[in-house]
Amino acid sequence: SLIPATLIPGDGIGPEIVEAVVAVLGALGAPFAWDYQAAGMAGIEAAGDPLPPATLDSIARTGLALKGPLTTPSGGGYRSVNVRLREAFKLYANVRPARSLIPGGRFENIDLVLMRENLEGYYVAHEHFIGVGDDPHAVAVSQGVTTREGCRRIIRYAFDYAVRHGRKKVTLVHKANILKAITGLFLEEGRIIAKDYEGRVAVDERIVDACAMQLVMNPWQFDVIVTTNLFGDILSDQIAGLVGGLGMAPGANIGATAAIFEAVHGSAPDIAGKGIANPLALLMAAGLMLGHVGRHDLADRLARAIDLTLNEDKVRTGDLGGTATTRDLTAALIRRIG
Ligand code: NAI
Ligand code: MG
Repeated sequence: SLIPATLIPGDGIGPEIVEAVVAVLGALGAPFAWDYQAAGMAGIEAAGDPLPPATLDSIARTGLALKGPLTTPSGGGYRSVNVRLREAFKLYANVRPARSLIPGGRFENIDLVLMRENLEGYYVAHEHFIGVGDDPHAVAVSQGVTTREGCRRIIRYAFDYAVRHGRKKVTLVHKANILKAITGLFLEEGRIIAKDYEGRVAVDERIVDACAMQLVMNPWQFDVIVTTNLFGDILSDQIAGLVGGLGMAPGANIGATAAIFEAVHGSAPDIAGKGIANPLALLMAAGLMLGHVGRHDLADRLARAIDLTLNEDKVRTGDLGGTATTRDLTAALIRRIG
């Protein structure tokens, strides 16, 4: 039986890479019944709203979405749709796997996953200025928020993910030596939760600045990393850099009742409509979605097909140094799925 899922083609290269992903998933026999919905500039064109009510209703109904990149117009315009979706569905976990796919990058054989808390910390900060003399912005004040429940759900998600995916270690990343309350609570809760997984998943702790250095010195020592919002924002881009940049990076936003999967890159207006976009980041996001619904068999087959297409057939798009079009790559992937 098919699993209803919302599909948002998005803007720029979105429709091209979504078409490729739908074709590859079809060949794989992925069990999704797609409900196409608009968002971003496409939402404005279709319904006069970057996040039309029909799109929100669809995600509320399916609890599962694959989302192409959305253009955020600079200079005013509307609030980020991504942030609105995160808030609307309380998507507390941002999951960013990083895996070396082609040799010759900065680091080879990297396979790690970063879990970033997505709703708390300094990103819900209450910020204000205090004036001194005739300078109204003489002092800036920001207050972040961490809750025990917020720490518990992201850390539990990280450990459960490790168990489900056969991963061996979870590293708690914090700055509890200095920010004793806002990140101390995270570390305290992490140590408590780790006890429930004793003998199944090892636990490890790192202070965020040392972790940043160690990720560059010896990234292979890490497996699953879990951390608070601001640290996770920075480290997730760092680990994407370790494996060759945002073009190959998938991401998932997970909540209790909904999950949204996407590529980390944007709508790439400079190459939109040319048929040369790399669909792999979005395809890997679809792979995460397959794992999320328990189809690890299909997720593994997909990962193998991507590996063989890139490394045996050497079919690669321009951003990876190849000459393949989006359709060439799609056809090669489908041949490998067989
Ligand atoms: P971008 O990621 O769209 O593009 C940066 C560079 O990478 C461009 O040269 C582009 O051609 C290339 N690139 C990106 N994805 C590619 C792919 N799949 N295949 C081949 N080349 C690829 O970032 P940029 O230009 O800063 O943003 C463009 C628009 O996307 C903006 O409106 C921005 O707000 C939006 N954006 C949306 C995101 C989302 O919906 N999750 C994330 C990041 C940006
Ligand atoms: Mg970021």
